[in-house]
Amino acid sequence: MSVVGLGTWQLGADWGVVLEDDALAVLDAAADAGVTFFDTADVYGDGRSEQLIGRFLKSRQGEGLMVATKLGRRLPQLPENYTLANFREWTDRSRRNLGVDRLDLVQLHCPPTAVYSSDEVFDALDTLVEEGRTAAYGVSVETCAEALTAIARPGVASVQIILNPFRLKPLDEVLPAAEKAGVGIIARVPLASGLLSGKYTKETLFGADDHRTYNRDGSAFDQGETFSGVDFVTGVEAADEFARLAPPGATSAQTALRWIVQQPGVTTVIPGARSPEQARANAETAALPPLSPQTLHAVQDIYDRRLRAQVHSRW
Ligand SMILES: NC(=O)c1ccc[n+]([C@@H]2O[C@H](COP(=O)([O-])OP(=O)(O)OC[C@H]3O[C@@H](n4cnc5c(N)ncnc54)[C@H](OP(=O)(O)O)[C@@H]3O)[C@@H](O)[C@H]2O)c1
Repeated sequence: MSVVGLGTWQLGADWGVVLEDDALAVLDAAADAGVTFFDTADVYGDGRSEQLIGRFLKSRQGEGLMVATKLGRRLPQLPENYTLANFREWTDRSRRNLGVDRLDLVQLHCPPTAVYSSDEVFDALDTLVEEGRTAAYGVSVETCAEALTAIARPGVASVQIILNPFRLKPLDEVLPAAEKAGVGIIARVPLASGLLSGKYTKETLFGADDHRTYNRDGSAFDQGETFSGVDFVTGVEAADEFARLAPPGATSAQTALRWIVQQPGVTTVIPGARSPEQARANAETAALPPLSPQTLHAVQDIYDRRLRAQVHSRW
């Protein structure tokens, strides 16, 4: 799979309205630029993101494209809802939406922490593989502690986690543990919801239907999912400093993605894109040269000075 993939939360909801043709244009632009890995979830737009990807897959058969979806958020977030019967029902729906017999990868969608310690849940996931509903399963986590618990499970193929220049904690233990166990790392929210593009100012406003307005304080879902949990003003100031590290010919967003793909243990990074131009620019990152040791040091320094105190102990 490509080291730069595409996140498709934007094609469902929570980021304002996206028209169907525009969504398909983003998917096509990514694939044309070499992206072969697409991340979605059964709840993005209540299945709309999966259905759009299904249409897209139909038009690009034989290209070896891989789609990861997620399950677990169609019912209240209670451990007792993570049953084999529900998993079967949800994966059947995702298979229909995507138009495939077998899913490539299905991920638990940031379940309650207790779910990671449940043998029954992981037995049920093994059963989905045995039944041919999915080729493999993984987890999407909120915290490093959850990631480490999941990596210790033998059947877990991948861990999706927030990792970007404003979220360095996974470097401490999660990436080394994943590499040792042969577990794939899918780096999500790689641009800190767009902050790392360096294009926002303290005055920037987002739409009322955009999670960057309504989830800043974590009232809709985990606070860490919006701007990586960094307070917006702090993030804009840190992003201004980060943008100055971009090497000639690379944008700030590309520098952030390049930083992620060169961390040992990262399998792929899944930036969300709202236009074909963004999708193409992000895919181009795969061909950029590695960042210098001085730049890596400067990224660490920005994090330590401006962000560590806000986020490091939380996720
Ligand atoms: N719980 C979970 O499992 C979970 C949670 C969150 C995300 N995810 C996955 O991770 C994916 C990525 O995370 P994300 O979409 O939340 O955040 P992200 O990738 O950090 O940020 C996406 C935003 O960055 C901006 N952007 C993207 N490419 C750009 C470019 N080349 N130049 C300038 N700006 C650019 C756009 O902002 P503008 O809209 O302002 O242009 C875009 O909406 C999601 O799509 C989803 O697949 C999973």
